[in-house]
Amino acid sequence: MGKLATGRASSKSSKLLDEFNASLMFDKKLYAEDIEGSIAHASMLQAQDIISQRELHQIIGGLAQVKKEIEESSFVFDIADEDIHMAIEKRLTEIIGDAGKKLHTARSRNDQVALDFRLYVQKNSKNLEKLILKLIETLLDIADANSSTLLPGFTHLQHAQPINFGYHMLAYVAMFQRDILRFSDSFKRNNFSPLGCAALAGTPYKIDRDYTAKKLGFDAPTVNCLDTVSDRDFALEILFNISTLMTHISRLCEELVLWSSSEFGFISLSDEYSTSSSIMPQKKNPDVPELLRGKTGRVYGNLISLLTVLKGLPLAYNKDMQEDKEGVFDSVETATISLRILNEAMATMSVHIDVMENGCKVGHLSATDLADYLVRECDMAFRDAYKITGAIVAQAEKSGIDLSEMSLEELKVADSRINENVLEFLNLRNSMNARASYGGTSIKSTKDQIKYFKKWIENYDV
Ligand code: ARG
Repeated sequence: MGKLATGRASSKSSKLLDEFNASLMFDKKLYAEDIEGSIAHASMLQAQDIISQRELHQIIGGLAQVKKEIEESSFVFDIADEDIHMAIEKRLTEIIGDAGKKLHTARSRNDQVALDFRLYVQKNSKNLEKLILKLIETLLDIADANSSTLLPGFTHLQHAQPINFGYHMLAYVAMFQRDILRFSDSFKRNNFSPLGCAALAGTPYKIDRDYTAKKLGFDAPTVNCLDTVSDRDFALEILFNISTLMTHISRLCEELVLWSSSEFGFISLSDEYSTSSSIMPQKKNPDVPELLRGKTGRVYGNLISLLTVLKGLPLAYNKDMQEDKEGVFDSVETATISLRILNEAMATMSVHIDVMENGCKVGHLSATDLADYLVRECDMAFRDAYKITGAIVAQAEKSGIDLSEMSLEELKVADSRINENVLEFLNLRNSMNARASYGGTSIKSTKDQIKYFKKWIENYDV
C-alpha cells in the first residue's frame, strides 16, 4: 500500500524529506495511547450513528491485531508513513479494508497527537508520583532510625548548629512532598480531552466529546478547539515538574557524594550501588549520585528546548510542534530510572553514627547556645552575650578544644556570672533538643514531623 494521505501532494516525496519529516522512530512509543484514542473515537462515531456497529467491531478487532503485531515486534515500521498515527491507520486498513478508512472521520492528526501525548503525560505523571512516594517512605525509615543521631548542621558548608540526621532527611521528604503535589496539580489542571477538536475549528459532524472524554478517563472535553490543538502546556508542566524534582534529587546526591568522601565519612554507599576505578584498585566511587546530579542537566535542557520551540508559534498546529516529544520522553524516562535507583541507593547505604556525632565536636556548634545562656541566665543583652561568646570561642581555639568540652573554670575566666548550669547548655545533644519550636530539630519535633508525613502518606491517594 502506498502513502495513506497524499492529498494534493504527489505521492512521491523525496526519501530525504521522508527521513526529515518523520517522527515515527520516536513517536511509536505512543502506539498504545493512539490505539486507545482510536477505539474511543470509533465507539463515539458508532454511538452517534456515523459508522455502523459492524464497522466498529471491525475497527476494534483490527486495532487489537495491530497492537499485538507491535508488541510482538512483527509490525513493520516504515518512515514513509511519517508518524505512528498514519502507520497504525495504514496497517488497520490493510487488515480490515474499507471500514479502516472511516476511522479518521471527524478527527485530525492535530487532535489525535494532542490526545496521545496528553494521555502519555498523564499516565507518567501518576507513575512518577508513585515512585516519589516510595522514595519518601525510604527516607522516612532512615529518619525514624536516626532521630537521635547527632549531625553537624551546616550553613555555607561550615559547621553551624547540631541537628539530627533524621531531621536532615525530613528536609528532603518535605521537598519530595511538594514534588508530588506539583505533579498532582498539573494532572488535575490538564485532565481534559483534546479529542474531537479536529484540525483547529471543530467539526461539522454531530460528535459527542463528552462521551470520548469520559471513556478516556478525562474530567471533560477541553473548551476551545483552537487552543487545544496548539496547547502543549501539559508537556511544559511535566518538564518543569521533573526539573524541580531533579533539582531536589541533585541536591541530595551532592550531599551523598560529600558525605561518602573520606573527609566527611558520614555514610557509605553499599557495594551494590557503588563502582570501582579501572586503575585504582582501592577506589569505591559514588557514580550513582554523581550521575543523578549530572542527569539533571539534560532534564533542564528539555524544558528550555520546548519553551523555545513554542514561544513564537502562531495558532494553531505547526510542524515545529513535532519537536515536543523526544525531550518529554527523555525527561520522563530519566526521572523514572533516577527515582528507582536513588531509592535503592538510599535504602542500602550505611549511616556512620559515630562519625556524624564526632563531627559535632568540631566547630563550636553550641556557641549560639552559650550566647542564649548568657542572655537567659546571666541577664545580658544579646549583643553583649554574642561578644563574650566570641571571646570564649577564641580561647577554646587557642587551647585546641571544642567549646562543648570547656570546663566551668575556663568559662568563668571570661565572665564571672557564668555558673555550672552552663555545661548543660553547651552539651551538644541538649543544644539539638533545645530547638523544640514547631518544625525545629529537637527529637520530639523530629518525631512529630515523621508522624505528620506518615499520616499524610496514609491519606494520600495517587
Ligand atoms: N507527527 C506529528 C506531530 O508529532 C503529528 C501531527 C501532524 N499534523 C499535521 N497536520 N501535520 O506533531
